[in-house]
Amino acid sequence: MRPHVIVNAAMSADGKIALPSRTGVRISNDDDLERVHALRAECDAILVGVGTVLMDDPDLTVKRGHAKGPNPLRIVLDSDGSTPEDAAVLDGAAPTLIATNTSCAKTFPKAEVIRCGDDQVDVPKLLGILHERGVKRLLVEGGSTVNWTFLRAGLVDELLVFTGSIVIGGHSTPTLVGGEGIKRLEDAIRLQLRRATPLGDGVLLEYAVVR
Ligand SMILES: NC(=O)c1ccc[n+]([C@@H]2O[C@H](COP(=O)([O-])OP(=O)(O)OC[C@H]3O[C@@H](n4cnc5c(N)ncnc54)[C@H](OP(=O)(O)O)[C@@H]3O)[C@@H](O)[C@H]2O)c1
Repeated sequence: MRPHVIVNAAMSADGKIALPSRTGVRISNDDDLERVHALRAECDAILVGVGTVLMDDPDLTVKRGHAKGPNPLRIVLDSDGSTPEDAAVLDGAAPTLIATNTSCAKTFPKAEVIRCGDDQVDVPKLLGILHERGVKRLLVEGGSTVNWTFLRAGLVDELLVFTGSIVIGGHSTPTLVGGEGIKRLEDAIRLQLRRATPLGDGVLLEYAVVR
């Protein structure tokens, strides 16, 4: 058993999720930010990769006014325990779990560490552990590499993409989904568009992942 998994992201009209330098930028408009905080409040845990922690330093909490209870659990996929000790996810505002591989000996005073996976974090195994601990709804907030891992492994139920009305460009700018990508069209991850809703000057695309 695993949690219900929602991937949420904001991208430009050309599919980029950051600047060419990989620095995070605010692509969401105010309406989308409100939506994201309401969504966070409905989830038991929020997960990101360490790449996002290093570039964006998100605090992954629910903004006041949206909170329905305690902040969700914050989870970082971080094989070698590279999350900086002054990272916002370690600010004590919410419980935090750092998922590392089994050879990582690092400990964090302000986070629990779960060691699973020989090289990178074994995500299916981690999801099993989270489910046993009561995480029924998991929000994945990137970045590009983590989105690929979840989608490729068939671990995503919903994909929510806010598309801002901007173009960023750049050959190696992070896109919504990175990783290795598919080799043949037959291997494409199929989505079913459930809704397309204008949101201020952008559009929210809500997909289900076809099994
Ligand atoms: N616009 C948006 O919605 C949005 C949201 C989030 C992030 N971003 C952007 O996305 C970029 C970061 O994306 P990124 O691809 O560089 O990093 P990422 O996806 O945030 O993190 C990837 C890292 O997570 C670690 N990891 C551990 N186990 C993993 C596993 N099983 N699968 C995948 N990753 C695993 C790996 O590092 P180790 O090997 O060191 O463990 C891997 O390099 C930044 O530019 C950020 O601004 C944009």
